[in-house]
Amino acid sequence: MRLKGKKVLVTGAGGGIGGAITLAFAKEGADLICADLNKQSLEKTCEEAQKFGVKVLPIEGNLSEESHSSLLAETAENELNGLTTIVSCAIRDVSYLPVTQLPLKEWNDSLEVNLTGVFLLLKHSIPIIASSGGGSIILVASQLALTPKPGRAWYSSQKGALRSLAKALAVDHAGENIRANTLSPGPTADDRFFSQWSSEEEAHQNSSTLFNRLGMPEEMASGAVFLASDDSSFVTGTDLLIDGGYTAK
Ligand SMILES: NC(=O)c1ccc[n+]([C@@H]2O[C@H](COP(=O)([O-])OP(=O)(O)OC[C@H]3O[C@@H](n4cnc5c(N)ncnc54)[C@H](O)[C@@H]3O)[C@@H](O)[C@H]2O)c1
Repeated sequence: MRLKGKKVLVTGAGGGIGGAITLAFAKEGADLICADLNKQSLEKTCEEAQKFGVKVLPIEGNLSEESHSSLLAETAENELNGLTTIVSCAIRDVSYLPVTQLPLKEWNDSLEVNLTGVFLLLKHSIPIIASSGGGSIILVASQLALTPKPGRAWYSSQKGALRSLAKALAVDHAGENIRANTLSPGPTADDRFFSQWSSEEEAHQNSSTLFNRLGMPEEMASGAVFLASDDSSFVTGTDLLIDGGYTAK
């Protein structure tokens, strides 16, 4: 029960990695607010998480809207009586194209969720963490911030920005006892990754990791549990890369 007493807000909780993080946190005793645009997958994850006997509150909404972020923060204050932890996991994918071909609308659509959405989330939630005595912010980035793949300029640049943002948060909010880090998964076995390949087997074979397999969502969740727990009490302003050696080659 490494997260007993933690009050956590997870975005993208209906997704592959966000779902695994939600379940791992519930298993470790955290109370949770779970947010996602996809009502169906959100409710499925939350039903599973509730089986661990913790408080799990699903909130459907779009992170690009400020009213959603303020609702999440208000819910933390009113229903959890505070907030200790944010895990920002949602991702708005757009076409895999170089900047010369990517329509401006798609660039803006991705930015609106992947960076501005994170900004809005932090703007409304950090004051609640501060008034709760501090905590941990985990922004889920990617190994592709370090080693871009073709057609992912929008993605790599936004994930690189999250790494810088976490460092800046660490500097600005250390005085409020708030730690901030990124967690960078490598290629991970979930529907989002599998959708790029014709079979799961092919996806694993093309993982480009040193183990010739994809990471499992639970392996990413283990890192998030560490960053949320007091085991990482002196860890701030850095990145936890869990990529099976993808970037080591
Ligand atoms: N899967 C991988 O291989 C991999 C690798 C590196 C990094 N990551 C990162 O991990 C995180 C989770 O990825 P995943 O594979 O679980 O993706 P996923 O697509 O399974 O989950 C993302 C979730 O975000 C939600 N979402 C999308 N737009 C939203 C919006 N506007 N408002 C609120 N929610 C919205 C989706 O509904 C979805 O449930 C992402 O930040 C991704 O960039 C994933």
